[in-house]
Amino acid sequence: MLEQFKKDVEKGLSSSPKFLSSKYFYDKKGDELFVKIMGLPEYYLTRSEYEIFSEQTAQIIEAIGVQKETYFELIELGAGDGAKTKKLLHALVEGGFHFDYLPVDISQNALDGLEQSLTRELPNLSVRKQQGDYFEVLASLKKNQHPKVLLFLGSNIGNMPDRLATEFIYKLGASLRTGDKLFLGVDLIKAASIVLPAYNDSQGVTRDFNLNLLERINRELEADFKISNFRHAPEYCEEEGVAKSFLESTADQEVFISSIGKTFTFKKGEKIHMEVSRKYNDEIINSIIANTDFYISHKLMDRKGYFADYIFCRR
Ligand code: AVJ
Repeated sequence: MLEQFKKDVEKGLSSSPKFLSSKYFYDKKGDELFVKIMGLPEYYLTRSEYEIFSEQTAQIIEAIGVQKETYFELIELGAGDGAKTKKLLHALVEGGFHFDYLPVDISQNALDGLEQSLTRELPNLSVRKQQGDYFEVLASLKKNQHPKVLLFLGSNIGNMPDRLATEFIYKLGASLRTGDKLFLGVDLIKAASIVLPAYNDSQGVTRDFNLNLLERINRELEADFKISNFRHAPEYCEEEGVAKSFLESTADQEVFISSIGKTFTFKKGEKIHMEVSRKYNDEIINSIIANTDFYISHKLMDRKGYFADYIFCRR
């Protein structure tokens, strides 16, 4: 884990242009900051998808095509706090559906927290926590024949470049059987005046979220980043539909990373690319799933048309 982190940081900071991987945002402090981001007035993504789960619960149940008589597994990749999913779980339990909920996460801590709150709020729900790598968990679940519905919410797919997203979805298809469903939440392409503030909030939480990765490198790799020498600089290209986060060096400076044993030089104005948050439309979604075993069966959107949940069916 630490060895991989070291390698990735060394590679990213030795490249030109420099980059770091957003997957390293989520240490304890990063998790806390992301929870704050989800509550920000500018961060419409979470609220938009929550609205779909609150107001279109019946349509969701219809779209995932589950029958009351037939047992199925509802599998969620990346457990989170489950606020959106709980809306669906409530409706399924009340509707007398026969299913288990299987949250999958790398973090045992996240799973334990989620299970606790579910035991309180939905005592009749059967929860089977799955700790581990997504594809390892899915491979073990494929051994049973039960129908499956896979949830991957929050536009988490947006951190992947399209090529990787295709590969990821292709592999999900390989872990499922004919008729199984993939429920994918994605942020939609829209005006920069709406997207950019979501990544550049007035309270500076997203700035701190990005800077926390430099702090994490200081803590875990014994580096001497001067955090105040970096400026949060997000960009959004509406034509492409891609938001990118950068940290820009505000001075000519050197940073020594002790555990790597190397010094990295930054020019004033030089940027580290931190994150990609891709936005989508039907055309992009269609091209991403073109060479996978899925076809689009339903699409649900919030009232403003900011966010979409696509339901794909496995051929
Ligand atoms: C968790 C990947 C969906 O890209 O919108 C939020 C992460 N980064 N603010 C996103 C994030 C900055 C978020 N995802």
